[in-house]
Amino acid sequence: MLNSIFLQSFRSYSKSEFKFGSGLTFIVGPNTSGKTNLIEAIFLLSTGKSFRAENYTQMISFGKDLARVKGMVGDIDLEVVITNEQKKYLVNGVSKRRADFAGHLPAVLFSPLDLDVIVDSPGLRRDFLDFVLEQVDREYRLSVVAYSKALRQRNALLETTQETGVRNEKQFEYWDQILIENGQVITQKRGEFIEFVNASSKDIFDFVMFYDKSIISTERLLQYREAEVSSGVTLVGPHRDDFSVSMFNPSTSSGQAATHDIKFFGSRGQQRLTILQLKLLQLAFIEKNLGERPILLLDDIFSELDEEHIKLVLELMQGQQTIITTTHKEFVPKKLLDKADMIELKSK
Ligand SMILES: Nc1ncnc2c1ncn2[C@@H]1O[C@H](COP(=O)(O)OP(=O)(O)O)[C@@H](O)[C@H]1O
Ligand SMILES: [Mg+2]
Repeated sequence: MLNSIFLQSFRSYSKSEFKFGSGLTFIVGPNTSGKTNLIEAIFLLSTGKSFRAENYTQMISFGKDLARVKGMVGDIDLEVVITNEQKKYLVNGVSKRRADFAGHLPAVLFSPLDLDVIVDSPGLRRDFLDFVLEQVDREYRLSVVAYSKALRQRNALLETTQETGVRNEKQFEYWDQILIENGQVITQKRGEFIEFVNASSKDIFDFVMFYDKSIISTERLLQYREAEVSSGVTLVGPHRDDFSVSMFNPSTSSGQAATHDIKFFGSRGQQRLTILQLKLLQLAFIEKNLGERPILLLDDIFSELDEEHIKLVLELMQGQQTIITTTHKEFVPKKLLDKADMIELKSK
């Protein structure tokens, strides 16, 4: 669990420290008081990434050139230092790669931005899969890092090939091998999570997930060899993966139950419930794999969900550290407030 967090020149915080209990903590404050920024900092300690910055330097306070987030997780000291040049990760003061930094503070985040996962571009859906799997699986983290690096190198090679008309087969062989090995690990593990979701019962909203995978293999690369040179980028592999989520509709006149893609046919409300259900299954997946419950970060759920579903979520969050942001204390059921800790943020 997260005992405390210290922020320095991070977004709207110049220097602040917060302590957390093992149960429920409410972060209460008006709009722009820094609630989501604080959640972002916790998420950064968990994954080494932001869930909303396009570029990590956006997390540095305006006019500053170094941001620091430090957290105590049990007796482990986690720290991320961000400058314009780099992000540095430290565990107990020792510098680590991101693959070895992430995983110390498993977390599940539910934020208003999550709705985009269903309706927006495939990149966000791949990020979602990465966030889930990177939490539980070091081999997956290592594969993602190796794959991304090899992909950049191979794309640069394709560009050179395009310019010069000469194909350096030896170099292609080298990077192809790394891409195939790591890409297959990524595909396999993404598939396992999706199978887990499909096999699990869904109390909130029922759906089925389809994995639209882009398999990488020697044969597939060969098949796309010409097309790749003309496009200048690698056309197959998990960096082109996607998934869709479909709901079950009542039987049609032909008597067959039909499924419909929630992205296109779901109401806003159904899309929200899908994401909520998906997040709860993510929690179950992490618990199953790690044998412990992740910290639950709920950003602004009271403005996102109706009363019935808020109640459902609040019932489910027994038994793990939970941090909830809200603009108004009055939104929180009284009996919860009584046993919760509270952090009040002032408007900035
Ligand atoms: N890099 C940054 N430096 C300073 N302030 C920032 C930075 N990024 C965002 N902010 C400020 O943080 C505030 C938003 O904080 P946020 O945590 O999203 O508020 P909320 O409490 O509504 O969730 C805004 O006033 C925004 O201008
Ligand atoms: Mg917010």
